[in-house]
Amino acid sequence: MKEKYEITSLENSENKASLRFLDEHVAKETAKYHASFPAYEPTPLHRLKNLAKYVGVKDIYLKDESFRFGLNAFKVLGGSYAVVQIIANKLGKTVEELPFDVLVSKEVKEQLGDLTFVTATDGNHGRGVAWAANQIGQNSVVYMPENSTQERLENIRKENSKAEILPMNYDECVRYANRMAEENGWIMIQDTAWEGYEAIPTWIMQGYLTMAYEAYLQLSLHQSVPTHIFLQAGVGSMAAAVTGFFASIYKNNMPIVTVCEPVKANCLFQTAKYGKGEELVFVTGEMDTIMAGLACGEPCTIGWNVLASYARHFLSVPDSTAAHGMRILGNPLKGDPHVISGESGAVSIGVVSQVMERPDLQYIKERIGLNSDSVVLCISTEGNTDALRYRELVWDGLYPNEEELSWNKK
Ligand SMILES: Cc1ncc(COP(=O)(O)O)c(C=O)c1O
Repeated sequence: MKEKYEITSLENSENKASLRFLDEHVAKETAKYHASFPAYEPTPLHRLKNLAKYVGVKDIYLKDESFRFGLNAFKVLGGSYAVVQIIANKLGKTVEELPFDVLVSKEVKEQLGDLTFVTATDGNHGRGVAWAANQIGQNSVVYMPENSTQERLENIRKENSKAEILPMNYDECVRYANRMAEENGWIMIQDTAWEGYEAIPTWIMQGYLTMAYEAYLQLSLHQSVPTHIFLQAGVGSMAAAVTGFFASIYKNNMPIVTVCEPVKANCLFQTAKYGKGEELVFVTGEMDTIMAGLACGEPCTIGWNVLASYARHFLSVPDSTAAHGMRILGNPLKGDPHVISGESGAVSIGVVSQVMERPDLQYIKERIGLNSDSVVLCISTEGNTDALRYRELVWDGLYPNEEELSWNKK
């Protein structure tokens, strides 16, 4: 069956979640820690002027996370921040006392002894955790769901990690990793929260603030405040961190946030629609979407609280939307920058383009309030993390934009 767009919207209630853990003060601390890494550089914020003009909005800004620490995705920001917080707690120090050169020092290693960090991942988060552990001479074990690709597995193994693909879906992998942690005395670093497991995912969300803070500073250089932010989501930790940060920064001038998920793994959309924004709704089964990073069926509890308070719209979108976004960014209009964006990275630009251009999606454009005055912010959260798949989609045209082609022919 053809996958279809669906939208649901929330009236954000007066009784809002606290943003203290995602505010500018925290973001500055997180960004300072990441800036202590020798590989640190802010990732670019591109201005896609010609695309904006073409689709009919005022401006489009795109944060390009393919440049993050040579790891091709934003995820390492979360895992590496959780690692330093865990170590700070063990040593009775603050994060400020543990910049990169101290963290990787022999003294710290001797004080800590041997640690093993364990996680479940579609690829990007596990690679970030494995990289952070490897940098400080510690061990990692990474479990991946059944449809994970060999390339993503190998990239994690390159970080000296014991990584393997298991015959189960993402959420089952998370439970398996948790059990292994308990049985072996390993430290579980998961990028989603559930009741009783909230401190580490909170640090992970705080780690993502470096990206939001950079974007804020870069937008300020353009003297721009977005009117609309489109954020892709798996469990919703990233979307919540970015939403929470901008809500605390822009306050009453808060941009309209639209969360985008694949049809096959739309747990936040379903939670907004059927859980009345209060009860979490899970998606189960295989979740076979090309957006591997977004193939998660269980919302992050602490992330959801923020999204329920500050995100306005939830979109469930076909896989072809992600492929469309990848092709747009990989084949820019003359004068716009070239961006290599993977399936989970490009979906939000795919949404903006299709919602603005397709007559059958006009109702979504109107509901979100996108028009020629809109200033849009999207984040390309990954590059070509699966290079072969990238070429199949962008060069060979897998997942064509069927709806659009058929209305063009009419
Ligand atoms: C590239 C990419 N983008 C977005 C996300 C979504 O992040 P979250 O699971 O916090 O919603 C992920 C998650 O792994 C990802 O890998």
